[in-house]
Amino acid sequence: MKLIGSHSPTRSTFLKISFFNVENENFLFLADSGRHRFAAEEILRIGSDNIAARVFTYRELAAATGSFSSENLLGEGGFGRVYKGQLKVTNEVVAVKQLDRKGLQGNREFLVEVLMLSLLHHPKLVKLLGYCADGNHRILVYEYMPLGSLEQHLLDIKPNAKPLDWHTRMKIAAGAAKGLEYLHEIATPPVIYRDFKASNILLDEEYNPKLSDFGLAKVGPVGDKSHVSTRVMGTYGYCAPEHAITGQLTKMSDVYSFGVVLLELITGRRAIDLNRPKREQHLVHWVCQIKMVTFHALLRA
Ligand SMILES: Nc1ncnc2c1ncn2[C@@H]1O[C@H](COP(=O)(O)OP(=O)(O)OP(=O)(O)O)[C@@H](O)[C@H]1O
Ligand SMILES: [Mg+2]
Repeated sequence: MKLIGSHSPTRSTFLKISFFNVENENFLFLADSGRHRFAAEEILRIGSDNIAARVFTYRELAAATGSFSSENLLGEGGFGRVYKGQLKVTNEVVAVKQLDRKGLQGNREFLVEVLMLSLLHHPKLVKLLGYCADGNHRILVYEYMPLGSLEQHLLDIKPNAKPLDWHTRMKIAAGAAKGLEYLHEIATPPVIYRDFKASNILLDEEYNPKLSDFGLAKVGPVGDKSHVSTRVMGTYGYCAPEHAITGQLTKMSDVYSFGVVLLELITGRRAIDLNRPKREQHLVHWVCQIKMVTFHALLRA
């Protein structure tokens, strides 16, 4: 098991797992490992003709974010820091994600994100406005989501903040499910998202959710195949056990992660919370125990 990410260890989202199993990349130009280092140039070459996303210079994005000033920092994930910015030419307010993960994996996630979000369009997916690949810089520019992530409203809430009401929780669950449904049932070929979790569900000013972070997404099985084989990646606590064990990825792996987020929405607890007593640390296990206790209590009644 390999941990990937640069979060503070107190945050559950730090726990990204990667078991190395069979590698079967869907993007042909990424499949040949000997060509990996040329992938960025390749996608940019393909992109300049076929990808609608705008190409930004580093200078433009530095100007938009006050030179990536800490005052504009919105958050930080395993991929790098995210800043609020305002584009000088159009005055658009945007979110700018600066990748700090060096090497193959970071480059690959950047390319997959640009490709996926350029091809997929749905009201429940965050919009990629453009990207910057000046020199060694790898930066993604998204529509700005004013209420940040579901994680901030559900799991990282400040002591005096009002918790999300039930209606809003269900609205978020239903909207995020629509995003997944689009990826699984409408996109052709289908896409397996692989990173469904509270921090990747972003919220607009009316708590409408949008899925973000497609760097790990995979084109799903086509024809009569039931799964794709891949190394296991995702976030510990949200990852379907059968996927972790076999490396076989199906749409159901996303459905499992959706179930975990639904439990988080219902209970207000994190998928993994090491600050709780041992038997309550893993949300799914805890809920299963409750179910058994309730079941036995019902039998005794
Ligand atoms: N488009 C956006 N609009 C507004 N805020 C955003 C946007 N994208 C990301 N953020 C903020 O930046 C934070 C970090 O996002 P990021 O996707 O880099 O990391 P993460 O989802 O927390 O972790 P991981 O890297 O494991 O996915 C988010 O939790 C959110 O608060
Ligand atoms: Mg994210």
